[in-house]
Amino acid sequence: MSTATITVDREFIVGPVPRRLFGSFVEHMGRCVYTGIYEPGHPSADEHGFRRDVLDLTREMGVSIVRYPGGNFVSGYRWEDGVGPVEQRPRRLDGAWHTVETNAFGLHEFAAWAKEAGVEVMEAINLGTRGVEEARAIVEYANHPGGTEWSDKRRANGAEEPFDIRVWNLGNELDGPWQIGHKTADEYGRLAQEAGKAMKLVDPTIELVAVGSSNSHMPTFGSWEHTVLSHAYDEVDYISMHAYYQEHDGDALSFLASANDMDYFIESVVATADAVKAKRQSSKVVNVSFDEWNVWYQRGLETEDQPHVVGKAQWREHPRLIEDQYNVTDAVVVGTFLNSLLRHGDRVTIANQAQLVNVIAPIRSEENGPAWRQTIYWPFARTAELARGDILRTVVRSDRFASSQYGDADVVDASVTYDADRGRVAVFVANRGLEEASDVTVALRGFTAGQVTRAEVLTIPEGGDRFTANTEAAQDAVGLTPLQASVQDGALRTTLPPLSWAVLEVEVTQA
Ligand code: AHR
Repeated sequence: MSTATITVDREFIVGPVPRRLFGSFVEHMGRCVYTGIYEPGHPSADEHGFRRDVLDLTREMGVSIVRYPGGNFVSGYRWEDGVGPVEQRPRRLDGAWHTVETNAFGLHEFAAWAKEAGVEVMEAINLGTRGVEEARAIVEYANHPGGTEWSDKRRANGAEEPFDIRVWNLGNELDGPWQIGHKTADEYGRLAQEAGKAMKLVDPTIELVAVGSSNSHMPTFGSWEHTVLSHAYDEVDYISMHAYYQEHDGDALSFLASANDMDYFIESVVATADAVKAKRQSSKVVNVSFDEWNVWYQRGLETEDQPHVVGKAQWREHPRLIEDQYNVTDAVVVGTFLNSLLRHGDRVTIANQAQLVNVIAPIRSEENGPAWRQTIYWPFARTAELARGDILRTVVRSDRFASSQYGDADVVDASVTYDADRGRVAVFVANRGLEEASDVTVALRGFTAGQVTRAEVLTIPEGGDRFTANTEAAQDAVGLTPLQASVQDGALRTTLPPLSWAVLEVEVTQA
């Protein structure tokens, strides 16, 4: 048995929980849009062709904001192809994913879907093959009330009221050689500055996200952010981060420690943004939009389920791409990623798990068939539900473990929030011990603890192992089960099973 003490203090507040931390991502990739959120003819489809089963799961999951339409896809996309009468929309080759895009689904459909799902739209523009002119045109189309060419086109296409999109990504992963329209940091920084300026001249109230590094191992990481922000600091409000992690060759300990890299990555990007701020003697703060994060088993480009390698496969409509099946270990790791995001919630104020349905996603769906929750759905759903009010600084004293890739890490990983309105403290906690249970004590300084109002755990189910997953045939093999927890001597106590993620909520008053 390992032991851990998590100490929080009512006065030690990181900042308010940013609701946009519980974002997701819908890309025109694989089966995320087509047969994911949109499938006219599906038994659950509504009058727009939106799958009601997927909408229900999206709402239940507590998603707050959804980035759209890509991803690598957006760097070759013409948004105009996706508006107007559907029968007149062009079919195009999408080079990013070697797919035929029918354009049956576009901006209007996404805005209508987002309304039904109760989520905010976060729109990415193409700065791979396009530029300033198209950037300002789409803002005029989406946000201007009317009386101009683009805004009147929107009205003629059925949306009298503006979509009023607040957050815009200035392109996607343009630091990556795989990206259509890949650029140097200077080329991109200047373009982001000019596109951002033109967009804010159309609507000064929008918030802009500059492209950051595609991951912390990019050769340009660090200098990319510095150069881009040196050009575009005054125009942008966020710098983006993307990161995907996986278990390599059975090295479970490194995988379980991968939130160390997330912490390092976030803190490095924040430091770089603040260095540019200092150099410019600016009072403006640029925050982080961690707009792609997840577990992704990247098996190389030449496998059957990644048929986008030119010359290796037919051009197809919505092929199955990267439909990873997630297990118990993945869910625990996703729980630690959410903890990392929350612990940095004063500076990471937007985050999007990639993606929402089918493509490396918490929700899976089958064409003409069911939709179900993957294991990673649960930590996201409960954290989105219960992380309310303020984030408290957590001090964890725990046994440690060594990992070859990401150094030493605490066996127990946590984040804590305090909702003064409801009088509740919520604790999100992972036990990364593969063999040992962990006795956890949460010391609640400045609070008087009352009843435990929620205690649930996700762990290896009876008869299963750490690779157990939810499948179409066994949709609820892994889920949340009740956990024993109590308040003793003013502290919250529980025992976490090996390899588990848990949520605890307790009534509190101020001591
Ligand atoms: O989410 C899948 C892909 O990962 C996105 O299209 C791209 O931005 C990233 O490399």
